[in-house]
Amino acid sequence: MGVGSSACKGFMYPQAEDPEKDAAPRSLSTVTRLPFLSAFEDRPDFTPVDILCERDLSLLKALTHHRTPFAVVETTDSDTRIIYASGGCVAGMGMPVESIEGTSFGAVLKKGIHASQADVDRLEAAIRAKQDLSLVVKGSTGKRNSKNVPYTQFYTTTVTDAGGQPLYSFVSLQPVTGAEAEPSQTMPYRFRRAWTCLKPSSVWSLFTPYKTLCDVDSGLVTALQDRREMFCITDPELYDNPIVFVSDDFVDMTGYNREEINGINCRFLQGEMTSTEDVDVIRYGLKEETDMRVCLLNYRKNGTAFLNQFNLSPLRDTSGKVAFFIGVQIEVEDAEVMPFPTTRQTLQEMLMDEEEKDFWDDAEPAPAQERATVVDAPGVKSEGMEGEVKSEAMVVPAGVETGVHPREG
Ligand SMILES: Cc1cc2nc3c(=O)[nH]c(=O)nc-3n(C[C@H](O)[C@H](O)[C@H](O)COP(=O)(O)O)c2cc1C
Repeated sequence: MGVGSSACKGFMYPQAEDPEKDAAPRSLSTVTRLPFLSAFEDRPDFTPVDILCERDLSLLKALTHHRTPFAVVETTDSDTRIIYASGGCVAGMGMPVESIEGTSFGAVLKKGIHASQADVDRLEAAIRAKQDLSLVVKGSTGKRNSKNVPYTQFYTTTVTDAGGQPLYSFVSLQPVTGAEAEPSQTMPYRFRRAWTCLKPSSVWSLFTPYKTLCDVDSGLVTALQDRREMFCITDPELYDNPIVFVSDDFVDMTGYNREEINGINCRFLQGEMTSTEDVDVIRYGLKEETDMRVCLLNYRKNGTAFLNQFNLSPLRDTSGKVAFFIGVQIEVEDAEVMPFPTTRQTLQEMLMDEEEKDFWDDAEPAPAQERATVVDAPGVKSEGMEGEVKSEAMVVPAGVETGVHPREG
């Protein structure tokens, strides 16, 4: 699947044979460019011999799917031993996998990232005591000799079998810029998110539209809220199109408090390496009041960068007028290969269950949405979704991918 802009192409994993050859500027502090391992894809997934409890099985799936660097650590009478290291973990430690698996966890940390004995002791104590622990350790699992990510945030959690017996620990690692644990990095984002979904907190934030949305758009907001996706909503009728709502995941992921960002424009997520061409694509979507998608570089509050597979959609009121814009942010590791939706249609399909399918089929579109016709517009880049329809002819800047409303089909 293509990307919204070629500007993202520099963020693919560089080859390990020559890790410094990557053309991207070295000043960039980003977790998205890690790990640097040539045979990253060749590492087998961790296959547990025992039947894991549902919660831990789901966690393992999330770690594997999102390629989170992690190790499986077993406790023996005298030691804590690594029985599996993911590709990201191997790359982060900068050691051959043969020297990691089967070796003492502490020894690997000391050799691989020069972790202090005190930090190793704390992590090992938590693993032995079967306690969850988040700990920032001095020692870089970033690019070799990187000055930008001098610390690594570890997160350890015990895994149990279906009968509740502790088996071993999953230990994830995330390069971070500062010694303080960042809430957004308490666990690698996806790791945390899988966890959160399994243990839903009783309180979470909901957006209550203060303008009456058409059925379809109100349904989109509900679907996103139900699944606790990362998104934000802005009000174009207010000066500078400010944020009027951010989801809990947005707060977790970016590290900003609601109070800090409500009422300001989303451009604060951009930074020195964000491509202006990518931002042009967003400007285009806003100007044309159309769905669009672009993959661009954004920054968290702690300065670490992430690739944002950004989806923008206007939310219309019952008369068809744009009431809000909604932006759905999906963190991706590699803009070239991740099969994320190019349009709102595919986004909605991804979110839908059977009951919602019925809802979308019955929902009344706003008048402006009905106007769209099934034509191939010159210049419109439509990804090969079977049965996908194109919006009205328009001039689209290079790199723009447009989406249409499901009702238009
Ligand atoms: C709903 C919504 C969400 C947005 N989310 C992001 C985002 O996640 N990342 C980003 O870089 N820009 C995002 N933007 C774009 C910026 O807010 C802004 O529109 C863009 O920088 C172009 O405007 P400017 O030229 O005034 O900066 C979002 C815009 C809207 C309307």
